[in-house]
Amino acid sequence: MARSLVLFAALVALTFLLASLAHASPSNNNNGHGNGGGHGHHPRPSRSPQPPKPTVFIFNDVNIDDFMAIKYLLKYSHLEVGGLIPGCAGFCNMGPGIQNLFGLLAYMDRDDVPVWAGEAYASAELDSGNYSCKYQKTVPLFPRGKVWADTAVGLNQRYPRLTDPQRNYYPGFPQVYDRLPQAMAEIDGPIVFLSLGTLTEIDYLFRRFPELKQRVDRIYIMGGAVNVPGNLFFPRGNVPNTYAECNIYLDPESARNVFISGVPITLIPLDATDDFPIADDFIAELGQKARRTKEAGWVHALLATIKAFGSNISLWDPLAAGVLADPSIVVEQVTVNMTVVIDQYTQIGRTVIDNVEGKPVEVVLKASQDFYDIFIEKLSQRARY
Ligand SMILES: *[C@@H]1O[C@H](CO)[C@@H](O)[C@H](O)[C@H]1NC(C)=O
Ligand SMILES: *[C@@H]1O[C@H](CO)[C@@H](O)[C@H](O)[C@H]1NC(C)=O
Ligand SMILES: *[C@@H]1O[C@H](CO)[C@@H](O)[C@H](O)[C@H]1NC(C)=O
Repeated sequence: MARSLVLFAALVALTFLLASLAHASPSNNNNGHGNGGGHGHHPRPSRSPQPPKPTVFIFNDVNIDDFMAIKYLLKYSHLEVGGLIPGCAGFCNMGPGIQNLFGLLAYMDRDDVPVWAGEAYASAELDSGNYSCKYQKTVPLFPRGKVWADTAVGLNQRYPRLTDPQRNYYPGFPQVYDRLPQAMAEIDGPIVFLSLGTLTEIDYLFRRFPELKQRVDRIYIMGGAVNVPGNLFFPRGNVPNTYAECNIYLDPESARNVFISGVPITLIPLDATDDFPIADDFIAELGQKARRTKEAGWVHALLATIKAFGSNISLWDPLAAGVLADPSIVVEQVTVNMTVVIDQYTQIGRTVIDNVEGKPVEVVLKASQDFYDIFIEKLSQRARY
């Protein structure tokens, strides 16, 4: 079973590869967005009809590893990044989050990618009107609170100063619900979602626009812990929960809704990401390539700064982006019926196998250690390819 899935994944990767080779044309080899449009469509070579590239919408919590994953994914030319959706139920604040995403895009000369606001609270708060942040309060966000994400540990200073007032969080800033359904209607090719934070926005999109469930080919989710412990470390609220992973725990109700929505899901849980701690030798290797591109230099500075604080992090979000961009890195994957616990105090947010209520989810249990090198190579590559 696992092997046939890996084979399937390899076929998908091959399809992507062929599509990207077919798109290599002189007009399309630098930043690839010369059409000035807002949706990232590229002019297609006229010689032969090409399968359209997949478009990825990145739902993220504008956190440290989100920056890494987004920069990395923008390096690929066999897929389009259709939009960035910050969701701040957990780690970020919406104002700085939106500015940092626009800064990241300007830094990479990708002002064509839109940013649409998500939610600032978990669905349990939004649905009940009781904004007590009951989950967020119990999770240690960082040694220095949300300030870490808000400033990208100070590295947002490297981003260009933005003068366009529309690239700020102003009253009436477009929300994902106002823009994404229309954007999706204008896309011909496959559509995938990448979820790097809570599942709040995807849950509300499916609740408000159920027809979108048929249009999304797959959701890649960084989250959950299947056969390994969770990561709600340093509990401020003393929740004795050793099962849950942060992204799922911070809005378990939404996660559950999305897991049982019937939309195909590939989960990249802690089982896979635990094998990718960021150690000193990785940072040193990245440092050797840091002069090649701004992005490699930026991520190197980020990791060196975090290490100096003594924090241990893994390639969480980058690995989820890596599985999406290049499924051939998957080494072990199983399909199980899965749902999320929402009603047992010590297990809230746990991803569990459940053949009654759960729906099939592809769970990546192991990925190739080559991903360390792939990540560094991509980041230090100047052109998208
Ligand atoms: C709001 O939620 C918190 C945490 O779940 C709870 O302790 C509190 O009693 C709730 N307040 C109301 C008015 O329901
Ligand atoms: C980070 O990992 C190292 C080595 O595994 C360990 O000694 C240290 O206590 C960890 N630091 C934190 C803050 O967890
Ligand atoms: C998922 O559950 C359905 C219904 O209970 C069952 O028929 C199916 O075999 C299960 N799939 C897996 C992968 O366990």
